[in-house]
Amino acid sequence: MDEGLQFMINNTMNEKNKQQNENFDSNQKGIRAVVIGSGISGMTAAVKLAQAGAFVTLVSPFPSERSQSVMAAGGINAVLKSCDVGDSVESHIEDTLKGGAYLAGEKAVKGLCSSAEKVIEFLEQVGTVFTVDEKGQPEKRVFGGQSHKRTCFSGSSTGKQIVSGLVMETRRYEAKGLIKRMLWSCFHSALIKDGVCYGVIVFNETTGSLEEIYGDAVIIATGGQNSLFGKTTGSTQCDGYTAGKLFMQGATLKNLEFIQYHPTTLETTQKKMLISEAVRGEGGRLFYLENGKRVYFLEDKYGPKGNLLTRDVLSREIEACGREVFLDISFLEPKEIEKRIPEVKEVCQKYRGIDICKEPIPVSPSVHFFMGGLAVHLNHETNIKNLFAIGECASIYHGANRLGGNSLLSAVYSGMIASEEIIARGPSSGEHPDFSEALQEAQNNLRINTSEESKFPAAYIKDMVSETISKNLGIVRREESLKEGISDIDYYLSVADKISYDNSVMIYEVYSLKGILALAKAVLTCALARCESRGAHFREDFPESKDELKYASIIMYDEGDYRVNLDREMQYEN
Ligand code: FUM
Repeated sequence: MDEGLQFMINNTMNEKNKQQNENFDSNQKGIRAVVIGSGISGMTAAVKLAQAGAFVTLVSPFPSERSQSVMAAGGINAVLKSCDVGDSVESHIEDTLKGGAYLAGEKAVKGLCSSAEKVIEFLEQVGTVFTVDEKGQPEKRVFGGQSHKRTCFSGSSTGKQIVSGLVMETRRYEAKGLIKRMLWSCFHSALIKDGVCYGVIVFNETTGSLEEIYGDAVIIATGGQNSLFGKTTGSTQCDGYTAGKLFMQGATLKNLEFIQYHPTTLETTQKKMLISEAVRGEGGRLFYLENGKRVYFLEDKYGPKGNLLTRDVLSREIEACGREVFLDISFLEPKEIEKRIPEVKEVCQKYRGIDICKEPIPVSPSVHFFMGGLAVHLNHETNIKNLFAIGECASIYHGANRLGGNSLLSAVYSGMIASEEIIARGPSSGEHPDFSEALQEAQNNLRINTSEESKFPAAYIKDMVSETISKNLGIVRREESLKEGISDIDYYLSVADKISYDNSVMIYEVYSLKGILALAKAVLTCALARCESRGAHFREDFPESKDELKYASIIMYDEGDYRVNLDREMQYEN
């Protein structure tokens, strides 16, 4: 072996690993599925599959209680027959399509909105507690871009409540032997041959080994790519590696240029804390100070609904006003604040010593959600057979800009749809091609490199990538800065083989680098290709929308080539 190289693990898969791959007793007949990611969408899919008797391996680097899903605050949209007089599913569909600048597929959005009541029923069945009125009906609040009060909520910690219910339900099926959790394990790569996915290779951080898991279907539920941007409202665990790696393995990505900035976030040392849209839904008003006087600039420009425009419009307005902006909710009774937005109160007090019952909150826009991701068909299958994507890592429902409250809805709904499809297909023969070469390559990725010429720490490159992306892919974009971003990423790609690491560095940190770089380049490439402004994508050099570009962007990877298409021919039927 090369002097500078040691192997972290044995060169060949040992017997122990082979046994671990048999996640379930092979004599038990049934569907076998692998779910990567155990937030709300991943757990929904796992539970639904297990309810139908399937065997599910649920892989995640952290417990569900630490997934990004717990950060979801404001609520989940649903028109409920029982209590929503005056609202309709049709109106929810129209608001969603309009909010997304008519880029989301109509069929997909119809499916999403018309199943919202079923989604709420499922969540209640698994134990989610919603805030209710005196009649015991879910209370509703209004979010930006919505024509009715349609957002069900659990105070201002809706994500946490949903996660708690789903964790309990997942445990029930673990006890029955239908769900097997592989905790502290990260996706490494998919086992794909001739356009068909047979399973995955995962890296088990506790044993330091690679394990192959085969299944009739693989579901990716890994969230967005927050860490590409440094400080965001989301979790840095969501780094986009899985989507980037799958892209390099032949999966098609879509609409990557549409990145949602949430207009109201609070600066803290570690991250941008979400100040939920619930605050504005409860009547909160945005203003800046001029000569010591409050200017309610949004109401002045857009009228009484100015504080509840869609997030893309508000974020641009706040950025364009060029001053410190504040959000005031202090006129609400303290007991109402306590009931309806307790977590917002707590966050402001805890991180900045601000008492929202008495003083306004300084806010600014920050990256919050990714409308783009793995392109999927209506059944949530990607262009690779048996490989599904759900939740935020899939791109289907939100077009060019997502409405607040539709994220939790799509996370649960997409988990249901993918699992229904997998159940309908039934078990396969279980045979699969020989992947020993792929395994060997994966093991080579885990080498410890201490050689002289390798002088770029992976963590340093990742920091530089987020600096480049944040600088060149902000709320307002321009051709020159997008090109500058691409050229920076090209440089990091060129040194990605020369990274230095030893056993003090997390192995995942190292092998994930190229996938993350590929995704970063794909995002910038899509933003450069879309020479218009639409939804969350605003080009200073092309400020208008163009009818001929009213299509999703589709990007494919071909041996280092990034091919983008924005034409009708390439569209998925959504
Ligand atoms: O503002 C919020 O509470 C965020 C909700 C969402 O992104 O759906």
